[in-house]
Amino acid sequence: MTSTLQEGILVGCGNPLLDISASVPMDFLKKYEMKEDDAILAEERHMPIYRELVDGFQAEFLAGGSVQNSLRIAQWILGQPKVAVFFGCVGEDEYADILMEKARSAGLDVHYQIKKDVPTGTCAVLITGTHRSLCANLAAANNFTIDHLDQPLNKTLVENALYYYISGFFLTVNPPSIMQVAATALAKQRPFLMNLSAPFISQFYMAPLLAVMPYVDIIFGNEAEAHAFATAQGWPTEDLREIGKRLVALDKLNPARPRIAILTQGCDPVLLIQRDSVEEFPVTRLAVHEIVDTNGAGDAFVGGFLSQFVQGKSLDVCIRCGNYAAGHIIKNPGCTYTGEPQFVE
Ligand code: AP5
Ligand code: NA
Repeated sequence: MTSTLQEGILVGCGNPLLDISASVPMDFLKKYEMKEDDAILAEERHMPIYRELVDGFQAEFLAGGSVQNSLRIAQWILGQPKVAVFFGCVGEDEYADILMEKARSAGLDVHYQIKKDVPTGTCAVLITGTHRSLCANLAAANNFTIDHLDQPLNKTLVENALYYYISGFFLTVNPPSIMQVAATALAKQRPFLMNLSAPFISQFYMAPLLAVMPYVDIIFGNEAEAHAFATAQGWPTEDLREIGKRLVALDKLNPARPRIAILTQGCDPVLLIQRDSVEEFPVTRLAVHEIVDTNGAGDAFVGGFLSQFVQGKSLDVCIRCGNYAAGHIIKNPGCTYTGEPQFVE
């Protein structure tokens, strides 16, 4: 990074989750009626998963939670602490301590809401070969309330930020908080970025997603998420470019800043959609032996993107850094990194 950035320039809200990650046989997924590339919220019948992973599959504990992942990666690339601020809710337990330590050592300025008597959220990451299936038990993360954002210090942090990023995942927790941050961004004419996060968000949370969409300046998603959005909208197309064009054309409150959609497609090119134009950004394909797991690739992409976006870099540089960051974390377990970032503009 060349110049010093204002502290707290980027604010994010999400679910702080500790990932419990293990390679499992397909039978394990079948037993819980899960698909190999899924992301779901845990129901009662999924609750034994976490214990089973720890007891029977040498599970690894890794800092997770989609937005927190992205902000940690942005911090790693920026190298300057406290550029990014994170809000989310945890319990008062060892898992919260681990999450806090990982986030702080990455340089993230963490302001957790703490809910006593409710455990910190976890996410089972079930790895089968090159696939991963996520099952989030939000627990404390589900208890985030808007009054946390109204605490004087937190209110100041939100008001002083210049960029805002919230996941679609957070729509299952607290839409009023999202709307409040989005309204602040709009009033101050500052970019508000969001992620489609998982197909189930479009399937089951379309109403709050559509309520916030008019505020969204940049929307991220992968192929499956874009298709799920299109299907839920009844759009008669499976063409990702067409879906992107329709996403950017949805109603928007600040027409001076037309919406941008950024759609990733694994090792295929990233699509940048603005108005009627679609640009492609190639991904450097990794050799099979270089891939540890793709868990966190989507989040790392956003983290790399944000690290450049908050420096006012062009979308081209932001996307290339997104691809760089995603490529790096794929070579590491979960959404973790090693060494110093090597991104060259
Ligand atoms: P997330 O970070 O979203 O990652 P993911 O979904 O596991 O990553 P994917 O591999 O699925 O990436 P993608 O499909 O989004 O992107 P794409 O493949 O297009 O999720 C993990 C985290 O989510 C966990 O830590 C968990 O805690 C959290 N989580 C789960 N449920 C949650 C909830 N309810 N609330 C909050 N958090 C929750 O790839 C993106 C980019 O990666 C590409 O553009 C490219 O640059 C690169 N890339 C991908 N594949 C390759 C390849 N083969 N070779 C080279 N580059 C590649
Ligand atoms: Na990884």
